[in-house]
Amino acid sequence: MKNILYASSEVVPFIKTGGLADVVGSLPKCFDKSQYDIRVILPKYECMAQKWKDMMQYKTHFYMDFNGRSRYVGVLEMEYDGVHFYFIDNEEYFSGPKPYTDWHWDIEKFMYFDRAVLSALPVIEFRPDIIHCHDWQTGLIPVYLNDSFQGGDFFRGIKTVMTIHNLKFQGNDNSEVFKRISGLSNYYFTYDKLLMGPDGNMLKGGLVYADAITTVSDSYAEEIKTPFYGEGLDGLMRARSHDLRGIVNGIDYVDFNPETDSNIPFTYNASNAIEKKLENKRALQAELGIGSGDNRFMIGIVSRLTDQKGFDLISYMMDNLCQRDIQLVVLGTGDQKYEDMFRWFAGKYPDKVSANIYYSEAMSHKIYAACDAFLMPSLFEPCGLSQLMSLRYGTLPIVRETGGLKDTVQPYNQFEGTGTGFSFTHYNAHDMFNTVMFAHSVYVSDRDSWNKMVYRAMTKDFSWQASAEKYKEMYDWLIG
Ligand code: ADP
Ligand code: GLC
Repeated sequence: MKNILYASSEVVPFIKTGGLADVVGSLPKCFDKSQYDIRVILPKYECMAQKWKDMMQYKTHFYMDFNGRSRYVGVLEMEYDGVHFYFIDNEEYFSGPKPYTDWHWDIEKFMYFDRAVLSALPVIEFRPDIIHCHDWQTGLIPVYLNDSFQGGDFFRGIKTVMTIHNLKFQGNDNSEVFKRISGLSNYYFTYDKLLMGPDGNMLKGGLVYADAITTVSDSYAEEIKTPFYGEGLDGLMRARSHDLRGIVNGIDYVDFNPETDSNIPFTYNASNAIEKKLENKRALQAELGIGSGDNRFMIGIVSRLTDQKGFDLISYMMDNLCQRDIQLVVLGTGDQKYEDMFRWFAGKYPDKVSANIYYSEAMSHKIYAACDAFLMPSLFEPCGLSQLMSLRYGTLPIVRETGGLKDTVQPYNQFEGTGTGFSFTHYNAHDMFNTVMFAHSVYVSDRDSWNKMVYRAMTKDFSWQASAEKYKEMYDWLIG
């Protein structure tokens, strides 16, 4: 039996702010249980729904020296959907209305988490062969493992994998502060280890000390070796290119299944998608109070409203877009300027723009089901799950060719009758606009081709199956 522990700051269904949670929540289910014992560890946040907290069971607790004090570490556990979950409990660190709060505080809380994860393993008597770490929040696990957990037999030989879901977020802080809180010695604060400029850097630590590095698409694995996408770590990515591989994300085919989805009013499959999507569209137009009309080209956006996702291009083109017979249904939260921008346009064009500035799993499914197209013109995109969800629901993505968007959306080719969406290359508002207009023209004047594309999109396989195989190969290779 191969024991693997996933460590992550967010995991579906317990807590989610983005795609990281979807990935860590769905991938562990895809391994053969007779060969792999995959468990998941995450913080127990006060802001988790009471329903989940009620299902957690107390396992143990102990005290751990951290940042100058002895700190409580509680461990709770739960078996859910065939996967064993552990939750690290500390009310001082994991309170508050959201998992991430103040920047400096987040650094301290996840340093605590990383140390607590390793400290808990002998206590709960689970010895992983591999600890699979996700994003900067878990970056110190490989470092601590190398540093102060090598004494006894228990930890010796444990391998680590670091998966980059987003290189933009690195968990850095002034090196003196970093040193004091983490408890790591001067040895680690050189440029070939954790230091970056004047800062200590959690993700860099993970990337230097992990045995293998993955990221969530082939294109992003290449892009991050270049200065534009490398966020200051491209040199390290090039240096470790032999240990770096891209494994594209999948989505949970049970949670995201238009045929059984209880969040949507009219369920469907690839054979009856055209008529049923129209019924979903009518229902959503009525629910959101935007104008009715079967042939209005409805474009969806479900996203964190940040610069990463290309909202400056969209802002720039909003007035132009709204001169056409389109509807834009937005669901998202994030930067104030983009929240306000969508609210403003919803006021200006109430018949065309619906700004839903909140978080709702149910509404996201309704949008994936009802819309004709989905807009995602990202500046960079490690993988992107929203376009995969759209494809699964027959909603054709309009994307910029970057990272995982490039790897998962095949652009429409009218001559060969191929493709599952629309794309443009350069990060340019007019190119985006022209691509939306091209999609609109196919929808309006060549509906037959559009409908065939919907069928092709829905029958592509974006489940975890193929990618889980690749993770398996890597685990087997690491364990030897
Ligand atoms: P990222 O992780 O960069 O935010 P992804 O496309 O990988 O982007 O994943 C985003 C996930 O978050 C998808 O599951 C998407 O449906 C979901 N999501 C984003 N914003 C919202 C929202 N306001 N309400 C519901 N789901 C959302
Ligand atoms: C990150 C990326 C997104 C990716 C997700 C899951 O949040 O921004 O592109 O799909 O992680 O890997």
